[in-house]
Amino acid sequence: MPAILSKAPGKIILFGEHAVVYGYPAIAVPIDAIQVKVSILPVITENRSIIRIRNIDWHEDVPFNELDECDPIRTSILNVGAQINQKLPHFEMTITSSIPIAAGLGSSAALAVAITKGISQFLGVELSDDEINALAYKSEEIQHGSPSGIDNSVITFGQPILFYKTKPISKIRIKNSIHIILADTGKRTLTKEMVAFVKHSLEKEPDFIKPILAEIGGIVEEAAEALPSGEIKKIGSLMVHNHIALKKLGVSSIELDQLVESALRNGALGAKLCGGGKGGYMVAVCNPASCERVRLGLVSDGAAHIISTTIKGSTQGN
Ligand code: MEV
Repeated sequence: MPAILSKAPGKIILFGEHAVVYGYPAIAVPIDAIQVKVSILPVITENRSIIRIRNIDWHEDVPFNELDECDPIRTSILNVGAQINQKLPHFEMTITSSIPIAAGLGSSAALAVAITKGISQFLGVELSDDEINALAYKSEEIQHGSPSGIDNSVITFGQPILFYKTKPISKIRIKNSIHIILADTGKRTLTKEMVAFVKHSLEKEPDFIKPILAEIGGIVEEAAEALPSGEIKKIGSLMVHNHIALKKLGVSSIELDQLVESALRNGALGAKLCGGGKGGYMVAVCNPASCERVRLGLVSDGAAHIISTTIKGSTQGN
């Protein structure tokens, strides 16, 4: 049995979260600046498998057979074993993640993808991206109830995607590199709860909620044209429009709105919450010249953490 190292990036939804659960399109991009790494070694001396978790704020060693029945790590490992139909020899798995948990940046999907890739390679089987994606979705379903599947898809394929729940995934070309700043509200919320919140609102007030979901779908369609043609100002204003729609949907928060306003006041071209909402991170798009000012503004307006990175454009070698 070989020693394996597999990785998966984080993600952000640039446009279309929540509406995507109801069949509208959404656009997501992988974020390589944050990652889950999974290393797997065969265990020879001990008669059991062990999981070592090494996150910034959380170190734990857990015997595999002591994980809860619906633990996402256990589920992902067992799903691969079942798919490949092979008995798993004892192993030592070390998980290191720099993706904040419950922050809208795809931590659970990245964990599922990295484990699926790693365990399949450990068993000597090279799964296709479609197979990895389908298995990661199964783990996401246990974590999130009925997710759209956008998180596991963008993380598996590692490229910007235009995603519809019921259509084949298409990769989206982004013309020029886009400078983004991700700012943390410091609050954490579970995607599952936010998806359930929108579902409940839709059942209670369909006449109010349905047009908002359709409006978000329309914003995504416009963004799908603006990204390949590199219309950065249009992309920025569509992000602001998307944030306002998410606010009407009830998934923003005082902290998210404050960070969005701070970014815009300091020269960002656009900003919005990203992911389930009510907490987690927001994303701002800026010109290179205004990035530092936006970053400093976000820090002084209360951002708990900042990630500055770039979405690579196709003219920059993607
Ligand atoms: C979560 O990253 C995005 C949501 O749209 C949920 C989903 O698509 O499953 C809120």
